[in-house]
Amino acid sequence: MVQKRGNVGDLDVLISKERLAVPRKLLKYIDEFKNTSAEIFWKLPFDDSGIAKIGKLADQYRAKGFENVVVIGIGGSSLGTLAVWKALRGACPEPGRGDKKLFFAETLDVRRLSRLLKKLRSPSVFVVVSKSGTTTETIANTAVLLDQMKNKDQAAVVTDRDSKLWHWAQKRGFDILESPRQVGGRYSVFSAVGLFPLALGGVDIRRLVAGARQINPDCLLANTEANPALRSALTIWKHWKRGKIIHDTFLFEPDLEWFGKWYRQLTGESTGKGGKGLMPTVSIGTTDLHSVAQLYLGGPDNRFTTFVSVRDHGADFVISNKSGIEELVPDISGKAFSAILDAILAGAKTAYQKKKLPFMEIKLAALSPESVGALLQMKMIEMAYLANLLGVNAFDNPQVEMYKEETRKALHAINTKS
Ligand code: PA5
Repeated sequence: MVQKRGNVGDLDVLISKERLAVPRKLLKYIDEFKNTSAEIFWKLPFDDSGIAKIGKLADQYRAKGFENVVVIGIGGSSLGTLAVWKALRGACPEPGRGDKKLFFAETLDVRRLSRLLKKLRSPSVFVVVSKSGTTTETIANTAVLLDQMKNKDQAAVVTDRDSKLWHWAQKRGFDILESPRQVGGRYSVFSAVGLFPLALGGVDIRRLVAGARQINPDCLLANTEANPALRSALTIWKHWKRGKIIHDTFLFEPDLEWFGKWYRQLTGESTGKGGKGLMPTVSIGTTDLHSVAQLYLGGPDNRFTTFVSVRDHGADFVISNKSGIEELVPDISGKAFSAILDAILAGAKTAYQKKKLPFMEIKLAALSPESVGALLQMKMIEMAYLANLLGVNAFDNPQVEMYKEETRKALHAINTKS
C-alpha cells in the first residue's frame, strides 16, 4: 500500500494512493451540505456568540467555586464529552492548572452511583444533559443525585427548548442551556452538550473548536485529494462493498479509547438502518495486539481498519541497559518509548499488508485540544458522507426511539402491577 499524506496540520490522514471516484450523488450532497442555511452540526464550532455564552456561564460557576462536575447523560449526551475529556486529561486531571474532577452517570449502576455519592463531599456541579429530556436512565440518575444536593452545590440542565426537562428545570430555578434542536445527540459535542461540562472541567473549549474550525474547510471540498473526510468515507465504503462490514478503529493511544466509543456510536446510529450498516469495533494498541491480533490476522477477512496514533506525547522514557535489558530484547536499549511504539505500529501494519488486510491511518500531531477538535469534526463529516454513500439517513435513529418507547411501556407495566 502506498501511503499519502492526506492533510497537513494538526491531523494527518494517510490513505492508500488509489484513485477514488466520487459518485455524483455524493458530489450533490456535499454541495447541499456546504451551502445549507439550516443550522447543522458542522457549523457549531463557528457559533461564536453561543460558544462565548457557554464559556461565560462556565466561568461564573467556576468563580463560585466547586470541585466536582457530575455529567448526567447517556449516549450522544455524554460520549462526546467523555471522548474529549479522556483524550485530554486521561486518568489524571491536573488540579494544579484549574482542572476539576469530572464524573459521569450514564447507565443505572447502583454500585458505581453509591461510590460516586461517597466522593461528592466537596461542592459539586450537576449537569443534566438530555436532548429529549425524557431518557429513563438520565432522569433516574438525576433523581438520585439531585436528592443529595447540598447548599453549595449547583445544577444546570442542557436540553432542547421546551422539552419537559426544560420546564421542569425552569420551575426549580436551574440554569438551562439549549441543545440545538436540529442536531442529533451524537453530532452535538461542539454545542452546550459537550462544551459546557468540558469548560466546567477546565478544558479550553476555544482551542478545541479552533481545531474543528481549522480542518472544516478541507472537509467541505469536493476534492478527494484534499478532503480527509471524503477520502476516508470513500475508502471505508469501497471496502464495505467488498464485504469488509466491520470497521475497526485501532487506537495506538489508550487515552483515545473513549474517542473510539464515541465513534462507535456515531457509526452504529448513523449507518445501521434498512438492513445496512458498518459494525464498529474499537481496539487499543498495543494491548489488543496481545489479545485479538490472532483473530485479526488469521480469522475472517471482513474488516477494514483505521490505525490512529499520536506523533508527539510531550514526554518520553529512554530504555537504559543498566540491568542488561539488551539480553532480553535485542536492540531495545537506548531507544525511547515513542520509537518502540512506532516500531510496534510499523510491525502491525506490515503484518496487515502481508495478509492483504486493508487499512488507513490517522496521525494526530499531539493530544492537544486542537487535534482532538479536528479529529471529531473530520469524523462527523466523514460519517455524513459515508451514510450518503450507503444510502441511509445519517441523522435519525428510529430504532433507538423504538426501544425507549418499549422501556416506557415496560415501566408502566411494573407500576401497574405494584
Ligand atoms: O444519538 C442519540 O440520539 C442517542 O444516543 C441519544 O443521545 C441518547 O439516547 C440520549 O438521549 P437524550 O439526549 O434525549 O437523553
